[in-house]
Amino acid sequence: MKGIVLAGGSGTRLAPSTNGVNKHLLNVYDKPMIYYPLSVLMLGGIRDIMIISTPEEIPRFQEMLGDGSAFGLTLHYKGQSDPNGIPEAFVLAEDFIGYDDVTLILGDNIFYGQGFTTLFRRALANHRNATIFGIRVKDPERFGVVEFDENQKVVSLEEKPEDPKSDFAAAGLYIYDYRAVQIAKKLSYSSRGETEITDLNKEYLKGNQLDVQLLGRGFAWMDAGTHESLFEASEFVKITQQRQGFKIACLEEIAYYMGYLSKNALYKKGEGMKKTDYGQYLMEIANRKHTEQYWETIDKNPILELVQNE
Ligand code: TTP
Repeated sequence: MKGIVLAGGSGTRLAPSTNGVNKHLLNVYDKPMIYYPLSVLMLGGIRDIMIISTPEEIPRFQEMLGDGSAFGLTLHYKGQSDPNGIPEAFVLAEDFIGYDDVTLILGDNIFYGQGFTTLFRRALANHRNATIFGIRVKDPERFGVVEFDENQKVVSLEEKPEDPKSDFAAAGLYIYDYRAVQIAKKLSYSSRGETEITDLNKEYLKGNQLDVQLLGRGFAWMDAGTHESLFEASEFVKITQQRQGFKIACLEEIAYYMGYLSKNALYKKGEGMKKTDYGQYLMEIANRKHTEQYWETIDKNPILELVQNE
């Protein structure tokens, strides 16, 4: 399974902040936005990941994340010259995908909730053809709306409908087989001047090959594409982290629990940032004596559980 984080776009709704910097490098509370989608792919066990962004910003992502080895990943980078649409990611990543399955996550999407790792891993394991993720929203008319049957087969898919057939929006996380590349190549531009992911999904739907995985009420799904939603996302992360004492989307922590990063490497990483709460957190995790027992007293650690079961 290959992974793609789509982190290009124009970010016009976040001007003036995005006049000189790519949106996905902006902070969501205490870490860059791109950490959040990357953490999702990592929790799914996906390690071979391509980051797609504007050609001029690629060097900044490379500076920040390197070749991925600091997080136990292999990162590839690819430029997207113009925001021609989400499906273009598959065309740009054609050689990278080859004949593998691929999971795409939008760079400004944040997923968080108990059981997410298990649910996502199950979706990856059961995946055939195409799988999208549906979540109930208050204002479905603003999103791609998914109608589905009792077997979680998609019945209809509509982009920003005036009269939505369900309250479930398609979130910015998609799993496809390699055919997505050829389908993406054939899509025509919409009235927005972009190819649309809904159109790609509709091609799978035509063959009755589109499944939806539902995220229940315990999940938070946010996109951080406007000043208001970016601020709200930061507030959510801050409050959740402060209450629980766990960090959301801490890539080094995930890498450590997945077994990609040694205790020593984790500690050193933290030490390098010890003036920050983030750095202190890494050092504290590395210093915990009975990590597994500690998790078991609070909650089952889905990461450890899954890793051990593999
Ligand atoms: P959007 O929110 O649709 O667009 P945008 O990020 O360009 O922002 P704005 O509307 O403010 O101008 O994009 C959703 C996500 O997908 C976002 O993370 C950027 C990414 N994206 C690309 O990388 N390339 C594309 O061609 C498109 C359409 C989006």
